[in-house]
Amino acid sequence: MTKPRAVVYRQIMEHSPDDTIHGSISRILEGRTIIIGLTGSVAVMRSLEIARELIRHGAAVLPVMSRAACEFIGPKLVHWATGNTPVVELSGANEHVALAGNSSSRADLLLIAPCTANTIGKIASGIDDTVPTTFATTALGQGIPILLAPAMHEPMYHNPAVLRNMEITREFGIGIIEAPVIEGKAKMADTQYVVDACIRGITGRQSPLAGRSVLITAGRTVEYLDPIRVITNNSSGKMGVALARAAYHAGADVTLVYGKGTVEPPQGVRVVRVESAEEMMNEVLVRTKPDHNETDILIAAAAVGDWKARNPDTRKTPTNGMTSLQIDLVPTPKIIDAVRTQNTKVRIIAFRAQHRLSRYDLTADARARMLRAGADMIAVNDVSVQGAGFETDTNQMIILLPDGTEIEIPLASKISVATRVMEAAATYLL
Ligand SMILES: Cc1cc2nc3c(=O)[nH]c(=O)nc-3n(C[C@H](O)[C@H](O)[C@H](O)COP(=O)(O)O)c2cc1C
Repeated sequence: MTKPRAVVYRQIMEHSPDDTIHGSISRILEGRTIIIGLTGSVAVMRSLEIARELIRHGAAVLPVMSRAACEFIGPKLVHWATGNTPVVELSGANEHVALAGNSSSRADLLLIAPCTANTIGKIASGIDDTVPTTFATTALGQGIPILLAPAMHEPMYHNPAVLRNMEITREFGIGIIEAPVIEGKAKMADTQYVVDACIRGITGRQSPLAGRSVLITAGRTVEYLDPIRVITNNSSGKMGVALARAAYHAGADVTLVYGKGTVEPPQGVRVVRVESAEEMMNEVLVRTKPDHNETDILIAAAAVGDWKARNPDTRKTPTNGMTSLQIDLVPTPKIIDAVRTQNTKVRIIAFRAQHRLSRYDLTADARARMLRAGADMIAVNDVSVQGAGFETDTNQMIILLPDGTEIEIPLASKISVATRVMEAAATYLL
């Protein structure tokens, strides 16, 4: 009996992911297969890093290479990095159909990173005389999502034919991950951005959050006592930034109102920078006006300071000879309360950080806060718990709903926790 093509193909390409890194960041791509196409650009040296990050999120990565790519980097190294033998030429196993065609073993996404001007041009005109372009032709006809991460010298990137070809591929529904121009080169986008775009390309197709507007506050606010000194807190912004990234992964249109934080906001997300609680509130209020339907869900994850100086000093407060200083503090505005007062429809997810409370007190306090604010959901955590809280890369929390539902999210990376929050939002709030 003839073996199915996919079985034959698997025998050629035995998939053996590196167990030490598989799923080490998150499991969001678990069970997903991504074909990574490598083409003839110097940026191919970064493809391995991208492939391994995708594996760290749980994906299986199958490499395919153009002849030019093989001149830049050896297939053995690509095999090592992905755990899979790269396809460097097509054989009687019909690799392109088995992996990107109408076969049960087809991949979830084709990423070509880096993508040369030459390959973009060929895809735009339906030419497939290299391995990556044959995979692109097949994947496009099959409806498998395709992403291209261009890399080339700046003059090539500005070439009218290349620009037109990129436009044509966009019209085909192919995603272009824009290359920032640095040192006269359109360099392949950041690894993190490429990985985020891949996750969005796969999970964003199925999530109820796809196309929804999600507004997120993150980081800490800062209140000036004088032009130099401030009152603030220890929030790093990591959790809020992870939430913005998770919402982006889910296909949402994301705006991040970001105070001070130690982490860069994700690319692909609109970022509005603020300092004080009042500035943060104003930016949120303007985006949650009633009847504008500009925001479907507000996620209030920022650590907003509770106090500010009644009369901040306009010059640096002198300290010479002083043994004490009295500062008159007044409360800052409560952002979620103000939003709910002006807009009864927008879904609100509140966040509450507590310190050293029993589980009972933690949830009772959070529930009371949720009801007082008219929030639709509240996520609460105790920042005194080891590995959960302000500057850590991990977190754990409990999500509460007004109907009494409680969802326990155990200790995990902040991005994994954020993904669980988005799943809860998609399940209960839409
Ligand atoms: C050292 C070197 C670097 C190159 N870098 C790029 C590049 O970054 N982007 C690009 O579009 N072409 C680049 N090229 C040109 C491509 O390798 C060439 O167009 C090749 O035909 C691409 O084939 P492929 O698209 O099938 O991989 C480079 C060529 C050389 C020799």
